Amino acid sequence: MKEIINVKLKAQRVDFSRCKTDLLAVGQFCGTKGLDKLNAELNRKLEGAIERVIKLGDFKGEDGTSAVVYGNDSIGAKRILLVGLGEKKKATLDTLRKAAANTAKKAVEMKVKTVSLALHRVFEGRFDLPVMGQAIAEGTYFGSYRYDEFVTEDKDGRLDSLDVELIDCDSAKTAKLNKGLWSGAIIGKAQSYVRTLANRPGNIMYPAKLAVEAKKLARGLNRLSCTVLDEKQLAAKGMGGVLAVGSGSTNKPRFIVLKYSPAGKVTSGRATIGLVGKAITFDSGGISIKRAAHMDQMKLDKSGGIAVLGTMKAVAELELPLNVCGIIPTAENMPSGTSYRPGDIITTFSGKTVEVLDTDAEGRMVLCDGLAYAAKQKCNPIIDIATLTGACLVALGRYKAGLMGNDEKLIKQLQRAAEDSGEKVWHMPSGEEYLAEMRSKNADLKNLAHIEKYGDACDAAAFLGQFVGDAKWAHLDIAGMDIFREPTAFTAEGSSGFGVRLLTTYLMNLAGKKY
Ligand code: BES
Ligand code: MN
Ligand code: ZN
Repeated sequence: MKEIINVKLKAQRVDFSRCKTDLLAVGQFCGTKGLDKLNAELNRKLEGAIERVIKLGDFKGEDGTSAVVYGNDSIGAKRILLVGLGEKKKATLDTLRKAAANTAKKAVEMKVKTVSLALHRVFEGRFDLPVMGQAIAEGTYFGSYRYDEFVTEDKDGRLDSLDVELIDCDSAKTAKLNKGLWSGAIIGKAQSYVRTLANRPGNIMYPAKLAVEAKKLARGLNRLSCTVLDEKQLAAKGMGGVLAVGSGSTNKPRFIVLKYSPAGKVTSGRATIGLVGKAITFDSGGISIKRAAHMDQMKLDKSGGIAVLGTMKAVAELELPLNVCGIIPTAENMPSGTSYRPGDIITTFSGKTVEVLDTDAEGRMVLCDGLAYAAKQKCNPIIDIATLTGACLVALGRYKAGLMGNDEKLIKQLQRAAEDSGEKVWHMPSGEEYLAEMRSKNADLKNLAHIEKYGDACDAAAFLGQFVGDAKWAHLDIAGMDIFREPTAFTAEGSSGFGVRLLTTYLMNLAGKKY
């Protein structure tokens, strides 16, 4: 099986203009008069070549754009990539992350082997160097990622590895950049890992296979353990929600639990943070079947659960001083003679009963068991992540994930992590009125408020909130955020790996770990 592109990252002390490389990337803001110091120096040595590109209007420095200028004998680089950064006053850390992604994507397309990045230069003084190192590493993985596991006919050949060096003429600075590269590479790799698992289709990645991947991950990492419940154990435990959703498929459901606890006694006595992720390996809708258009995208309905898996990988590799438990209920939602049906009443793991009005509202049916399990394990806080509702996509589009919860402080911490990680969230309402809509006459709850699905993102959150006991809880609805339908300047189409950076950053902030 083909591996994802192997990225090598390091920061080195090198003189910019003498740097021997296939591609030297430098940042350029738009709307600024004149060139940055480094760009001006390169421009001089290239006898005005950079200025000419800008004067011709071929490159304005806008966000998501780039231009190639070819080197000459007076500089070491064969090519210079001018990377657009947008307006200077709007720039954030994510501008730098995206610039690195843009560069890495171009480098892979051009099939260059060595890339040198001087992107941090124009951000100096604005962000700490290690923080910039981390963002650049994350962006490099993000941009160079592609999913071609099952492509056997590739006429042009394929780049297998990419050597990236961050360059600066000051070795004190490269040392600081290197610090951030370490954590950034862990997070970036975890995100690529997630994207590959999520991109695998339903015939390859079904619940039992996902469980095998989780076991494999835990085997390879210290202090990470994994237990898997199969369908018989699910029945013995009374996990009615997961079983109901999985009942229509010959690919039987699983319940994956990953536990991480750090070395030493630092965290004994401290509560465990629970991460619960929805992993529907394919969501056909079940008996309440979906229409055909774009149904293939429902292979990504496992993205929340896989984001939890990737976060556990990052947490263990970063050796964060926190106890973290990852819980992944996984099932395939299919129509058949053994499927659960509209009208069915299901007794969930918590003991609460749920009337099924729509088998396509299956995410909440598996999550309620995952959340109740987390609460029973005394996890606090509990954060769940799920491609849960089309309504969230209608409300927020493809730029921000919905964030609901029962604790202001936890919401703020996640908003902060979103800013730091560039994986954006928007706080949405939930609570009493929404919950009232989810009450059923025939059972404790129903899984759909009304046919129109108005406010279903908020209704679904209210439903989930019933299964966390007294724990502080937050819910991330990532429907629509799981996928790039088209390639962008910053990354390939397909799974986005959304959630890994957000959750890992939240945990790093909590642990007080900077990089
Ligand atoms: N997995 C879908 C939600 C989804 C929709 C994710 C679009 C990504 C893109 C979820 O299981 C679902 O089918 N939700 C239903 C709920 C409804 C039946 C209450 C929906 O949104 O229509
Ligand atoms: Mn569904
Ligand atoms: Zn679904």
